[in-house]
Amino acid sequence: MSYISKQLISWHKNYGRHNLPWQQTRDPYAIWVSEIMLQQTQVTTVIKYYQKFMDNFPTVSALAEADEEKVMKLWAGLGYYARARNLYKSATIVSNEYKGVLPSSMENLIALPGIGRSTAGAICAFSFGQLKPILDGNVKRVLMRFYGIKDRLGNSKIEKNLWELAESNLPKFNIEIYTQSLMDLGSTICKRKNAECCVCPLTTNCQSNLNNWVDTIPLPKIKKIIPTKEIFTLIVENKKNILFFKKPPKGIWGGLWAFPEFDQLPSTQDWLSKNLQAKKYTVENKGEFTAKFTHFKLRVFYQHILLPSTILLPCPKELYWIPKIEINDGAMPAPIKKLINKITFA
Ligand code: ADE
Repeated sequence: MSYISKQLISWHKNYGRHNLPWQQTRDPYAIWVSEIMLQQTQVTTVIKYYQKFMDNFPTVSALAEADEEKVMKLWAGLGYYARARNLYKSATIVSNEYKGVLPSSMENLIALPGIGRSTAGAICAFSFGQLKPILDGNVKRVLMRFYGIKDRLGNSKIEKNLWELAESNLPKFNIEIYTQSLMDLGSTICKRKNAECCVCPLTTNCQSNLNNWVDTIPLPKIKKIIPTKEIFTLIVENKKNILFFKKPPKGIWGGLWAFPEFDQLPSTQDWLSKNLQAKKYTVENKGEFTAKFTHFKLRVFYQHILLPSTILLPCPKELYWIPKIEINDGAMPAPIKKLINKITFA
């Protein structure tokens, strides 16, 4: 057994995590859902969403038969919505092509939308006890520090090298404990900042600990200039309803609910008169804010418009009048939620 696997397996007994909800099952579907949620989100956040998701969709077929809108709503707030759309798409494939049973081979798993090599490895290890490696961002950092690899992430030669190291450290037994312990070490000890080397089980052979490289490895990514996108949006309300727009299925927030939005500031008067035949209105408020994401910043300019009557003016088919009491029920992008919290509705 390699030094890493020996140390980690015995460390996990006392210091690893044992009570996470997805550790109480070997159901491949439940593990799949948890791994997708955990791809870009912290454990503490995932726990709240995972339980509710599993209560609503306890099986692959329950998810495949669900209304996509309901799936998106249960995902709302977790971010990275392509994960939910892919999970849903994959559930339909598993339901149709595999009779609702998640396949157990790496090859068939990776062929499903949203499942990459590391997620497939985690599913194979946790559900089927297969000796497959994982290599998410945390594990890459652990291996790079341990072996003293002074490089930047994202280079395909380094990736290949890391997969080989991940493979070469697999134990013959206790793959589930080993896989979990690697994840736990990466997120609780070998953290990106403030690594706790004094309590790390790998400390005596870790190149970064021995050479004082912990704060240098991995080398920082070359900073990309993050582009800023600007959108203009109209929040239109009458006495009882608010005008919403369902975004087309493609794009990061595809299928979610937003307010009518534009790349350029429209003439409010023209827009209201053309789309709603509204002549009378008041501008209640105007403002802007910036939402930051990994790959871009979004600067949102908004105008809050109040129409005087309770009559629902007919609107184009991509727009919907939603009763105010229901506006928190829809799946919406985080900046729209933020906007709703900022606005005082009539
Ligand atoms: N990150 C990815 N998968 C995980 C898991 N199963 N437990 C904790 N953190 C994780």
